[in-house]
Amino acid sequence: MKIVLGSGAQHLKNEIEEKSQSYKKEFLEVEIKKFPDGEKYVRVLGEGEEAIIVQSTYSPQDEHLIELLLLGDALKEKGFKKLIAVVPYLAYSRQDRVTKDGEPISVRAVMKAIGIYYDELYVFDLHNPKTLEFFPGKAVNLSPARAIASYFKDKLGEGIVLAPDKGALERARAVAEILGVEFSHFEKKRISPTEVQMTPVDIDVTGKNVLIVDDIISTGGTMIRAANILKEMGAKKIYVTATHGVFAKGAIERVSKAVDELAVTNTIPTPVSKISIVPDILKL
Ligand code: R5P
Repeated sequence: MKIVLGSGAQHLKNEIEEKSQSYKKEFLEVEIKKFPDGEKYVRVLGEGEEAIIVQSTYSPQDEHLIELLLLGDALKEKGFKKLIAVVPYLAYSRQDRVTKDGEPISVRAVMKAIGIYYDELYVFDLHNPKTLEFFPGKAVNLSPARAIASYFKDKLGEGIVLAPDKGALERARAVAEILGVEFSHFEKKRISPTEVQMTPVDIDVTGKNVLIVDDIISTGGTMIRAANILKEMGAKKIYVTATHGVFAKGAIERVSKAVDELAVTNTIPTPVSKISIVPDILKL
């Protein structure tokens, strides 16, 4: 099995190189550059039958997506029989339904396009796992729970894992079960047209360390709100994690100021991407 790294996976290169031998994966060289007008150019420089293409589609998302398609086309042209796309962060996954007449289901469009070339698709912590069914081949949603749990194990101790809302409860449960600690979620209650109250459900956080787990941090608003409530309730240390650090401008600083530690996985390269999903990729 050959492994190809797109531009959206260069931040994982050193670690993959270090560990790839023990996982029996060999690199396949590709040339990737841009034409003067900005269009991408790719060229596959080796041979093979099967390949795993790692390409995270963070900003510039569209460029990374196009490159993934071009690599797929080039590899098929070279005679590769089986192609596996590993897309640690899948762009457009949050638009998973039509909310206003005339909108697309963007995640469906993206998955169908990838499915033209790729036989299998592996993503991490997809915003809505049900949308995997849009991919025409085998599609798998990998969980970063083991990596997150091992990073926070000693820091959290006998603490609590919390999801910022009910929708993220399964993420909190997965991490808590590995750590053997309690878990719950925040519940949002509307107390006036402009005010929403957030409270952790059926759990006492007083004097305990808390780890808040979500799939994405964007503006950081959700995490900061949750952290402030936990402080008011007398929580001890507050740790915040997510699979994908999408981070709007200034969000890392804002969240870091509000909590004891912020650490996300390296599906997207950021200054706080301290938790590695590379071992999960190399196991494929
Ligand atoms: C929402 O559905 C997601 O799971 C995250 O909770 C959300 O994207 C976080 O956004 P922000 O950091 O802007 O509050």
